[in-house]
Amino acid sequence: MDNRHGAREQWSGSLGFILAAAGSAIGLGNIWKFPYVSGMHGGGAFVIVYLLCVAAIGIPVMLCEIAIGRHTQRNPVGAFGALAPSGSLLAHLIGFCMVLAGLFLLVFQSWGWAFLCLLPGALVFRFGWRLVGGMGVLAGFVILSFYSVVGGWTFGYVLEMLRSLLSGGVGGTHATLHFAGAETSLARFSSLAANASWSLVNHAVFMALCIGIVMVGVRRGIERISRILMPLLLFLLLILIVRGLSLPGSGEGVRFFLTPDFGRLSTESVLIAMGLAFFSLSLGMGAMITYGSYVGRQQNLFRSTLGVVGLDVLLALLAGLAIFPAVFATGAEPGEGAGLVFILLPTVFMQIPGGALWGLLFFLLLLVAAWTSGISLLEVVTAYFIDERGWSRRRATLVFGGFIFALGSLSALSPDAGLTGWSRLATLRDLLVFCFGAAPGSFLDLADNLASNWLLPLGGLLISLFVGWVWGVKPALDEIRHGSDNFGDVHLVSLLAGLRDDDSHNSPVHVLTLAAVWGIFIRFISPLAIMLAFLHTIGWLRTS
Ligand code: PHE
Repeated sequence: MDNRHGAREQWSGSLGFILAAAGSAIGLGNIWKFPYVSGMHGGGAFVIVYLLCVAAIGIPVMLCEIAIGRHTQRNPVGAFGALAPSGSLLAHLIGFCMVLAGLFLLVFQSWGWAFLCLLPGALVFRFGWRLVGGMGVLAGFVILSFYSVVGGWTFGYVLEMLRSLLSGGVGGTHATLHFAGAETSLARFSSLAANASWSLVNHAVFMALCIGIVMVGVRRGIERISRILMPLLLFLLLILIVRGLSLPGSGEGVRFFLTPDFGRLSTESVLIAMGLAFFSLSLGMGAMITYGSYVGRQQNLFRSTLGVVGLDVLLALLAGLAIFPAVFATGAEPGEGAGLVFILLPTVFMQIPGGALWGLLFFLLLLVAAWTSGISLLEVVTAYFIDERGWSRRRATLVFGGFIFALGSLSALSPDAGLTGWSRLATLRDLLVFCFGAAPGSFLDLADNLASNWLLPLGGLLISLFVGWVWGVKPALDEIRHGSDNFGDVHLVSLLAGLRDDDSHNSPVHVLTLAAVWGIFIRFISPLAIMLAFLHTIGWLRTS
């Protein structure tokens, strides 16, 4: 279906959109990253900071993205192209600063970083704000490439649990051999992840799952599968929570997860909370612009945004409640980094009665969550090629699904037996060391780091600056007003007090409205917060 020549597809209604967008947001970020990251950064204290980031940055930016998408009915590149004035002063200023920074870095012979400033800096003068959309499409590419590898591991672990179950469950050969203790479980994960054909085949399966759905289209593919998978996800999670909480000793886990320990919180944790908020809400790369472009004019964008964010946060909290009680009940140590899910959890499950079955349910849950997110990442890339290049949906998904698979193969091949390392990619590593002075972690970590800590926050910063200062809060709000039933224009106090429909509480001139608060966040608070975080990341702002 070529959208240039036909009407653009639309979600069937607000529920369809909320479920699809929540499907994008709820993913490995909630169930894999959130629990281990909050475990490492002070449990409840981190959760509070995370919630603040979601409220102060996540909600305002998501509203921007959805409004841009619905207004322009385009993919991110086309959307910025349609809204941006040619020769925007702010764009030129940003381009100028980047070129300046690039020249400065050249002097210090940081070739790689200089290039990363000079190239986009120069491109800004040619493409202006369209570049932000381009960066989003690129981020979709990079994120899906490694996301699909982890999604592939998840699929592989579904099969592992199935084998354990079929070999007699707990006490059966497969389970005893591999998941009886921490050491064997680590050995199993390392040998699987280092096994090139295992990683590549599972990566291919995951990509095929995403391609298959995106190819079918927005309503019949993405929306339909989200309507089936999202309730299933919640159902699986609730079963696991009930199981975990009913184990003796599980209270310790709840306490660990929810009791704030501000001593373990550092500025570093605040940055991480922000990066995680972007990643988990699928913000900063145009996924919500793309999904927003399929939203009908009669939908209430305020409500939809709150619904999506609420579901995402809820699922992250529930995931923590599903994981930590079981971990503590079996006497294991939490906070084992990224391996929590693939190394620790299988051993935890094998110690509870019926373990292989719980393990199977858990990895199925993770797979479902990752699948709907992978779909949205591929849709961003696909929509660009359909809208801007006139490709057919089928061709775009197949060709770019293939490219993303190829890029992801580097991530799939990077873990060696030590789970980091570059032994198979030595030339690439040497190149990176030459350009950037270092190549830490594995290729997968690198792709994750590039996307989560750089591309997404940078994208979020530029999107909020764009709406706040270039497109303008007023035109953006006019878009949001369609279908929103005056939600944003009622005095905030009346709104919160439930007196929205009471005339004497709604004088004709409203100052303190939801819309006004949103404008202030978009123009000042969100960009400043993201900028501070950036300066800290690149080391220009030292806090201690
Ligand atoms: N939000 C997804 C998750 O939490 C990841 C994602 C990021 C998806 C960006 C789309 C865009 O796993």
